[in-house]
Amino acid sequence: MSASGDPQPGLELIWPGKYDPAGQRRQPAAADLARPLRPLLTSPGRTAVEAELLLGDNLTISASLLASCRGQVDLIYVDPPFAIGSHLAAQATLDDGSAVRLPGYDDRWPQGPGQYVAMLAERLALWRELLTPSGSLVVHVDRRAQHWVRLLLDELLGAERFVNEIIWTYSTSGRSQRAWPHKHDNLYWYCLADPPRFFAEQARVPYSQAYLESHFTHTDAAGRRCRQRLDCGKWRTYYPDQGMLPNSVWDIPYVNSQAAERTGYPTQKPLPLLRRLVDALTQPGDLVLDPCCGSGTTLLAAAAGGRHSLGIDASPLAIAIAEQRLARAGQGYRLRAVTPPPGAGRASCRVGDHLGGWRLELTGYRASDGSGDGLEWLAMWQLLQAGDPPAVLHAVVRQRRAGLAATLDLPARPPGPLQLRLVDRRGAVTLQPLD
Ligand SMILES: C[S@@+](CC[C@H](N)C(=O)[O-])C[C@H]1O[C@@H](n2cnc3c(N)ncnc32)[C@H](O)[C@@H]1O
Repeated sequence: MSASGDPQPGLELIWPGKYDPAGQRRQPAAADLARPLRPLLTSPGRTAVEAELLLGDNLTISASLLASCRGQVDLIYVDPPFAIGSHLAAQATLDDGSAVRLPGYDDRWPQGPGQYVAMLAERLALWRELLTPSGSLVVHVDRRAQHWVRLLLDELLGAERFVNEIIWTYSTSGRSQRAWPHKHDNLYWYCLADPPRFFAEQARVPYSQAYLESHFTHTDAAGRRCRQRLDCGKWRTYYPDQGMLPNSVWDIPYVNSQAAERTGYPTQKPLPLLRRLVDALTQPGDLVLDPCCGSGTTLLAAAAGGRHSLGIDASPLAIAIAEQRLARAGQGYRLRAVTPPPGAGRASCRVGDHLGGWRLELTGYRASDGSGDGLEWLAMWQLLQAGDPPAVLHAVVRQRRAGLAATLDLPARPPGPLQLRLVDRRGAVTLQPLD
């Protein structure tokens, strides 16, 4: 058995930077990394259950969160880059129907597996500090990194803290004929408590129709359909609406190109997968952190179940998509960042009275380097009411089919100073006063 933070006897994973030149194990320099987290904006209609988005590198932001959240997070779900070896792009459709590829994120590790493991090791050490004494960590990877990650987690959290390997299996198009097609991911669940904090009743899922038909063939004394079977020498009765505790292989459809929940963000995970994890490993009111939140799936799953959530991502485009998804779900959120993103472009617009109301119309956008003249360069825009932090009055994200709506009609001009917040196709963010 290994104590957490120590390698297992006789087996050690070594990565660049693990030891200092004197041979001492390096500890995360959280204090040196921490920076003030500045509020960037709050959404309208804040609700009791709140999500917080944090824009920036998750190393700096996790270190910065320690001051307020050390030992307070009940579940951390991490869906890091998978070591795919390429730059991932997000697909989107322009107003004219043509497809574009928006910048996603870089998943290249030119210095090899050690570079990937070192990146994760530094961060995992911080995430462990954020967990409550009974907190859970789930790391989602696939065949490319799972063998390194499992050893790393055993070392950093303690092999005895490992609870489950969940295999998420799905069918996607593209079936290799050279070998069995890879159609699963690996999720490693570690829990700091023994026994693990697991809410079996909340983890139940409905029986499949085929299972109901083949197994629920009895009727109880009250005439209810049921299943009766001998369990450890005792007859037990099961009812269809009780559902069942699934085993550790989960067959959940991938977010396909036609799915209503699809945002176009690369590697977006299905909401039912995250709901299953969040529901089983936390209670309403708990705090969930996703340090690689991408399009915000974990935050939506947390909100649907009445959990608080924190989502970190370095990509402004990911944060913009997550914001939009939360807003559509009626969730209040706020956005903070280590440093306010620099101005990166400028929109031209017409503002004024229109048919007895007030109209704002975006007519163009030019990036600060002069490229990208035209609204097709914008991924998202928001109208903000200036304040500390500013409040979002209206948000528009480019839609896969409908493109980007550029006109906003309101009964009257909102009071006070107004700002535009623009996120362009390369993820650059601009805050622009609206005169
Ligand atoms: C696999 S995707 C997550 C997808 C997400 N689960 C979803 O459902 O949309 C990984 C995410 O990690 C983010 N990321 C990678 N390295 C990061 C870092 N150092 N700091 C913050 N975010 C990072 C990427 O921008 C990307 O959005």
